[in-house]
Amino acid sequence: MTRARILRVTLLAGVVALVTACGPQNRQNSLDPQGESARDINVLTMLSAGMAIAVGIIVAVAVVVVTWRYRRRKDDPDRIPHQTHGNAPVEIGLTVLSGLLLVVLAVPTVAVLQSLSDTDDAVMEIDVVGNQWWWEFTYDLDEDGTADIVTANEMVIPADTEVKLDITSNDVIHSFWIPELNGKKDAVPGQVHDWKIQADEPGMFWGHCAEYCGLSHAVMRMRTIALDQADWEEWVSRQTRPAEMPADDDTPEARGAALFQQNCSTCHVVNGLYETALDPTTVPLQSGVAPNLTHLMSRTSYAGSLFELYFEDGAIDEEQLRSWVLDAPGQKPLAPDNEQGMVSFEGILTRDQIDDIVAFLKTLGDAPILPEGVPITGE
Ligand code: CUA
Repeated sequence: MTRARILRVTLLAGVVALVTACGPQNRQNSLDPQGESARDINVLTMLSAGMAIAVGIIVAVAVVVVTWRYRRRKDDPDRIPHQTHGNAPVEIGLTVLSGLLLVVLAVPTVAVLQSLSDTDDAVMEIDVVGNQWWWEFTYDLDEDGTADIVTANEMVIPADTEVKLDITSNDVIHSFWIPELNGKKDAVPGQVHDWKIQADEPGMFWGHCAEYCGLSHAVMRMRTIALDQADWEEWVSRQTRPAEMPADDDTPEARGAALFQQNCSTCHVVNGLYETALDPTTVPLQSGVAPNLTHLMSRTSYAGSLFELYFEDGAIDEEQLRSWVLDAPGQKPLAPDNEQGMVSFEGILTRDQIDDIVAFLKTLGDAPILPEGVPITGE
């Protein structure tokens, strides 16, 4: 390769790296903290990056200066600089300095690490369960030991409130991560990890499973929606309402409900209508259960937050929902034969039957409650 070519390739690689770093879809940015924990982490990031950059610059400048100063000279090509071996003061000095830098980093790091899972000030608790490949959130608001709200993929919290999270997994190790609110916490089967989350202002914060967990890890997404107090209370009151059977018998919704019972209710719970799905003796799913659909329409996304439920104008994306119900494994990598994810109903249900099921699903829950300025597409 010629010199010019090497230069061109290097420049191009640099430009590509730069351009990909500043896309508008910058929704998972830990450098843009929106809550206390994320802010603490960001301070550590800046501190360690600042120290590393300062040391890097000093070393780079020293290398350049020494290289220039002791370069081979035309007028005296055989000159060798004065040779030394060892320099105790410099060596001890640099070692002590490095040690000091590490101490400067370690002290705040240990303090922040402790505070990230310090839930003493938390006013409520949410159980978070990772599943292949979606998240379940269970709320026991009156703390009587039974769930009041079960929802999937979108965790709704009151803004400016510290919420304790009990994180675990139903199958393999996942990692819960909402970068703008807090760091990562592993979701490990058989263990419950304490974590906390808090958002300063109402808003929608995107997250992603941060531990490789198989086929659909790359699309195991989630959202956290923080609401002001009035919206939060409204959300809770809606979510605690059970679903109702479509009143009229001879409608697509009612036919859909019957089809749902036959085909979907072994895995999906709809509170008030189909509640037996959670029995692990009848449901041999490796991932435990499937998302609770009682308030499906109150969410903005589904299938591990892979698909948007609504268009920008608030209309439901029925086409996508139909495709998902008909053939989920064709829409997202799943392994139903290995009891991981939803089966395909291609060849089992007709298009008309799928339409009826979708008509029933559309009756489940009200439209999402979102903070001002957050579009229903979540974009
Ligand atoms: Cu779950 Cu990666």
